[in-house]
Amino acid sequence: MAQKIIRSQYHLYDEKIDTMAEVPDSELKPLPKNKDLKVIGKSIPRIDGNEKVTGAAIYTFDKTFVNIAHGRTLRSPYPFATITKIDTSKAEKLKGVIKIIHTYNTNEISWYWGNSKLFDKTTRYEGEEVAFVVAETEAIAEKAVRLIKVEYKELDFVINPVDAAKEDAPKIHEGGNIPKRRGHSTYSRGDFEEGIKNADVVVEEKYITEVAVHNPTEPFCSVVKWDDEQLTIWDSTQGIFSVRDSIASSLKIPQSKVRVITEYMGGGFGAKLEAGKYSVMAALVSKEIKRPVKVVLDRREMNLAVGNRPNSYQTIKVGAKRDGTLMALGLTNYGSMGAYPAGAGAHWPLRSLYKCENVTTSEYSVFTNTGRARAFRAPGHVQGTFALESILDDVAEKLKINPLDFRIKNFAPIDQDSERPYTSKKLLEAYEVGAKAIGWENRKTSGSDKGFIKRGFGLASQIWWGGGYPPAYATVKMNRDGSVQVLCGTQDLGTGTYTIIAQVAAEVLEIPIEKIDVLIGDTQATPYAPSSGGSNTAPSITPAVYDGALQIKEKLMSGASALLEVSQEKLVYSKGEIFESDNKSNSLKASEIVRKMRERVLVATGSRNESTSGYRVNTFGVQFADVEVNTLTGKIKVNKIVAAHDIGRTLNRQTLENQFHGGVIMGLSYALHEERVVDEFTGKVVNANLLDYKIATMLDTPEIDVIIVSEADELVSAVGAKGIGEPAIIPTPGAIANAVYNAIGVRINSLPITPDKVLMALNKEV
Ligand code: MOS
Repeated sequence: MAQKIIRSQYHLYDEKIDTMAEVPDSELKPLPKNKDLKVIGKSIPRIDGNEKVTGAAIYTFDKTFVNIAHGRTLRSPYPFATITKIDTSKAEKLKGVIKIIHTYNTNEISWYWGNSKLFDKTTRYEGEEVAFVVAETEAIAEKAVRLIKVEYKELDFVINPVDAAKEDAPKIHEGGNIPKRRGHSTYSRGDFEEGIKNADVVVEEKYITEVAVHNPTEPFCSVVKWDDEQLTIWDSTQGIFSVRDSIASSLKIPQSKVRVITEYMGGGFGAKLEAGKYSVMAALVSKEIKRPVKVVLDRREMNLAVGNRPNSYQTIKVGAKRDGTLMALGLTNYGSMGAYPAGAGAHWPLRSLYKCENVTTSEYSVFTNTGRARAFRAPGHVQGTFALESILDDVAEKLKINPLDFRIKNFAPIDQDSERPYTSKKLLEAYEVGAKAIGWENRKTSGSDKGFIKRGFGLASQIWWGGGYPPAYATVKMNRDGSVQVLCGTQDLGTGTYTIIAQVAAEVLEIPIEKIDVLIGDTQATPYAPSSGGSNTAPSITPAVYDGALQIKEKLMSGASALLEVSQEKLVYSKGEIFESDNKSNSLKASEIVRKMRERVLVATGSRNESTSGYRVNTFGVQFADVEVNTLTGKIKVNKIVAAHDIGRTLNRQTLENQFHGGVIMGLSYALHEERVVDEFTGKVVNANLLDYKIATMLDTPEIDVIIVSEADELVSAVGAKGIGEPAIIPTPGAIANAVYNAIGVRINSLPITPDKVLMALNKEV
């Protein structure tokens, strides 16, 4: 093992952080191809599937104790206000109310969003925390919340990022609405103006994408319990260690005194990468009242206060040569961070997806009096790809080039920033098989389909990171009966992490997957693994599990060598047994070897190596959409999506398809249905519930064809898996938007593409 400085490959908010990790000195032998494997790559149902479908799995939402108390939060009803008085006397008299905390009775607790506080006398968005009530039941706590009298002084507010960026806009924080750090970011290469000058065709367009809310199935929730100085938090989170550290820092207690547990989880999509204020509030009260406290956010709170995908107001200018060569790409973008710092950019696809020498981008992440943005399944890439792929289709049409040929013409063989090759980029292969699967040759000239129901085809490509990175560790234990446990500090958001860990261990040790127990999601019991974000979970942890299992195998082999008095080279490992190659009867079972060991339990901790240096690690793919637009009602029906991607090794065909289905449906929902609506006169969200905030359902779900064009990416790790959670959603909205244009011949430049917009666009053309 050695310590190495590793440049983080995670660019979520334009940040590159130097990190150091302990990694193995030697390279591991790459796993064979899937066709030569028995467990990896197969369709294996989730090993925790039975618990989940029978209701036996205890999610944070289900966790309880006999003496548990319940917390509810009073939230500001105004977009921007100062609190002048809080009167809790009526609420406190309610039977069953135990404790109420707020800005006047709670010492300042620092919160890690910049210099913000747990409670502030200024509230900057509808839904910001004002007070927290703990009571015997959730209903009593909610009733008490309604009995608290707060006097507010309302302030002038601003909800749109373009307005908020103006000089005379209400200032949400001292220093204005475009913070110095990350408020304005620019990028350029080559000479954009020169590229435009040398172009034969120039197209400029504006695009708007809406704010979308994560709305995972399981609400945001925490159960906290103190045992003397030791705090345990059951939390629905994507990052147990990151929650542990930020809560320890807010409460000013050692990280070793905080244990975070996430056994089962019902989704996060990026919104649960951060600790919740509710966990800190619950922990503060719980310590004082000496009882466990549970807090579960309702749908309204989830739609107001715990994150969203920022909107975008993009202006894109493209120049191209008559032969289709891209000459210049320019982007200006305004995105709303909400009331506290967050990333709201969208430039990465334009910068990196296609070959172009002259690129310039200028992006503003702007404070607005709305709930704060958070990372949301491929932050920036979903909105950026929609706009980029829309305008590229318009340019292709002007040049009379087939949109697919236009993309192939501008294929980028290397990373244009670093001029490094990619570890793998099978995008051309994906175009070919994807086009075939959708029947691309049936695509007609845009707007030429006859009849009132018009069919169209569209495509969009995808680039993302998702190669994983060190540090990530997994401890593999083998007991005297031959049973195996794998411990890893990751968490399963519902994606199948338990299952892929068991698969890798079962593959290496050649024992049935049922004999492998997986323990994850517990900061006190497991070695460190990173938060589940950036599609980095599978590619980060599976090489560590592989390493740990190989080390166990090596220990068994050396143990067998000693016991059988045969040199290791003459021994063969097969199905959990070791025998002499020339004398098969001279053999030992793994359990027999461990039984003779004084350790009683064989233990090895594996770690994830660095990816091969000198390369860029990315994922690529293309999605094709086949849609029908009813020109009388404006309704859009997506018939089929073909998703053809290069994502390294398939670890489990079933969980992989699940990810693609989820990503495509979420992308479709974003393209056609979802939009957080804020009333511009009151600054209030008018659809903070699942009735008025429209999410696609089974009835909207198209046929989804998932095609993987990659084998293992051996330059990434010995396992060669890359992430798929985010690649799956990135191209869907762009592909659907282009298919809608192809059907009706009129471009709709703002998402969601709702029937009213379709009808208005069609009428404009009449
Ligand atoms: Mo993802 S938005 O990094 O959970």
